[in-house]
Amino acid sequence: MLKDALGQIDPSLSSSPLTKGEATATRHPRLTVLHSYAALDEIFRSIMSLQPDFIHEFIPGSSLRTFLLLHGTGGNERDLIPLGRELDPNAALLSPRGKILENGMPRFFRRLAEGVFDLEDLEFRANELSDFVTAAAQHYEFPLDNLVAVGYSNGANIAAAMLLTRPEVLPIAILFRAMVPLIPDRLPNLSSVHVWIGAGDQDPIVPASETKRLAELLRRAGADVTIRFAKAGHGLTNHDLEAGREWLRELKP
Ligand code: MLT
Repeated sequence: MLKDALGQIDPSLSSSPLTKGEATATRHPRLTVLHSYAALDEIFRSIMSLQPDFIHEFIPGSSLRTFLLLHGTGGNERDLIPLGRELDPNAALLSPRGKILENGMPRFFRRLAEGVFDLEDLEFRANELSDFVTAAAQHYEFPLDNLVAVGYSNGANIAAAMLLTRPEVLPIAILFRAMVPLIPDRLPNLSSVHVWIGAGDQDPIVPASETKRLAELLRRAGADVTIRFAKAGHGLTNHDLEAGREWLRELKP
């Protein structure tokens, strides 16, 4: 398989296995050797699967920033790509699809009823997603310290759960229509974490008191938290997008 793949890069390489010596001997420019080994590295990377894996999209960017895009109930890995592009067209995008199906609708964790979460599953899923993000950072070679979670509704809730259970993974989070996902036994240290919460002042699913409860919990853990209320319901508006983008711009070091 590797031989075939090499043949696609340079047909002359498929007839003979590539060894460092041969590559050096048969090709005079050193650049060709470097090119071949870079290509090999790429092939190995694509053969090696991510562990744990999620169905996902990864779109490389032209800056060091990567958005972790987390869709809402019934969404998929393509839903928030346009939002990520709008927030920062230069950022790389990592967008997984939630593994739980509720009546055929993908979610990031199980719930027992609207707003009543299966806490055991939620903790498991927050850890699994954190492990995926860490593995994806190695696989796609993006720095974790410039990672920004952007979650909507169920996606915002799993991002908040990641902050509370795996505080080392997300330095920055933009949470649209988020709730308190869980209350950990011990609060994590989020003193270097920045969180922006976009709420809707007429949201029938997330009342203002719930948004404030989440902000309070994250602040008690030391996070820098900003809340903005849009004149909106549970759905996102342009105001949410503009306010989140502005916050991110100002956060830039
Ligand atoms: C959730 O289940 O995460 C919240 O109720 C938001 C939703 O998905 O409706």
